[in-house]
Amino acid sequence: MSGTDKATWHPDSWQGLPAIQQPVYADSAHVDRVVARLGKLPPLVTSWEIEALREKIAAAQKGRAFILQGGDCAENFDECTSENIVRKLKILLQMSVVMTAGLTRPIIRIGRMAGQFAKPRSAAMETRGGETLPSYRGDLVNRMTFNSNDREPDPELLLRGYERAALTVNFIRSLIDGGFADLHHPENWDLDFVSHSASAVEYHHLVERIADSLDFFESITGTKINQAQRVDFYTSHEALHLLYEQAQTRFLDHRNEWYNLTTHFPWVGMRTADPDGAHIEYCRGIRNPIGIKVGNGITDEDLQRLIVTLNPNGEEGRLVLIHRFGAGHIDEQLPRIIRIVNDLEVPVLWMCDPMHGNTESVTGGRKTRRLVNIISEIESAFRIHDEAGTILGGVHLELTGEHVTECVGGARGLNEQDLEKAYLTQVDPRLNYEQAMEVALRIADRATATPAA
Ligand code: PEP
Ligand code: CO
Repeated sequence: MSGTDKATWHPDSWQGLPAIQQPVYADSAHVDRVVARLGKLPPLVTSWEIEALREKIAAAQKGRAFILQGGDCAENFDECTSENIVRKLKILLQMSVVMTAGLTRPIIRIGRMAGQFAKPRSAAMETRGGETLPSYRGDLVNRMTFNSNDREPDPELLLRGYERAALTVNFIRSLIDGGFADLHHPENWDLDFVSHSASAVEYHHLVERIADSLDFFESITGTKINQAQRVDFYTSHEALHLLYEQAQTRFLDHRNEWYNLTTHFPWVGMRTADPDGAHIEYCRGIRNPIGIKVGNGITDEDLQRLIVTLNPNGEEGRLVLIHRFGAGHIDEQLPRIIRIVNDLEVPVLWMCDPMHGNTESVTGGRKTRRLVNIISEIESAFRIHDEAGTILGGVHLELTGEHVTECVGGARGLNEQDLEKAYLTQVDPRLNYEQAMEVALRIADRATATPAA
């Protein structure tokens, strides 16, 4: 039981509290119709899967698994194509192979996929050339093009987003069930990284080792590894647009709990993690595992309240603290956060997001992130958790399977001038395919250097 007080909590009880980062719709009757319709559509995930993920998170908390959460900063509707989904799945599978070899623990893959359509914005309005319009809040809310029609929040987009999330989940499931993720055929996942990258030799060496180990395991046990260990894949998105989350929140009699059935793993972004705010009120009532982004500004008291509110019974597999301080701040911040959590004695999964504290603007106004800082924050996270006797149980990355030029650094030596070549993100800069593989290889190295807990 999540401990939700059934008398005081309901999927819409957040509506009585300050709800920031929500779009303002002109026609509230239209919104009500859409939310009612959304609530009747079949769910995207099941409570069985959500419970399975909770168990895996609980294992990762104890160092018996490791979570790789990754995907775009924001998905958009145009990019809901088979190529894009396949590429993202491939990069996450490849990274997980490398990481399994280094960490010698199962890697649990969670995509920032199938619902990552809404974004928090620092300003509600945007002005260009004398015209002021609502900011773009992601394809779930409005459209990027700067004209009054497209920027007007449109409730129908909630349905269009849900449908694309369903198409994405459906395709991922078919690929995985159809053998795409078969560990015997990692060549299925190769992208052109294999021929170009400086890390290619290292990667192929690892893949061969894994193939040999699989053959060995199967010959002595007489079991096919796929039957022994199914490749699972989970979805996640920021629980930002509360009407969208509320619409698909259902009470399941057989479990006596509420579940958000749009995703396995919703997380609360840094801007909306107010312990007295609507987002926390919503999340406290659902049984899904919950992530919270923890950044530099968080006070001791707010963190304590968030933990106690979201995990009042101290359950394993319930709460993931996704810390995102930046390479230059993690040393001063993380030990404080660890002490607070240890004092409360509430179990959490520690996860490092080395992306959002390392964003900077370069000349010309582009946002970028340096691979050295990303890798440095991950390494510091491993070290600080080791020193504190806690366990880093996962990483949270923004990445794509394409050769974009959004982050600088890496084997090809991308620099600031290269950013113009393929800067495709509408929001935060993502690791490209090779940079993501480099991060995976560094995690594997780091883990090999440190005895597994
Ligand atoms: C994000 O994950 O895209 C994001 C906005 O992160 P944060 O809430 O940590 O800033
Ligand atoms: Co982002």
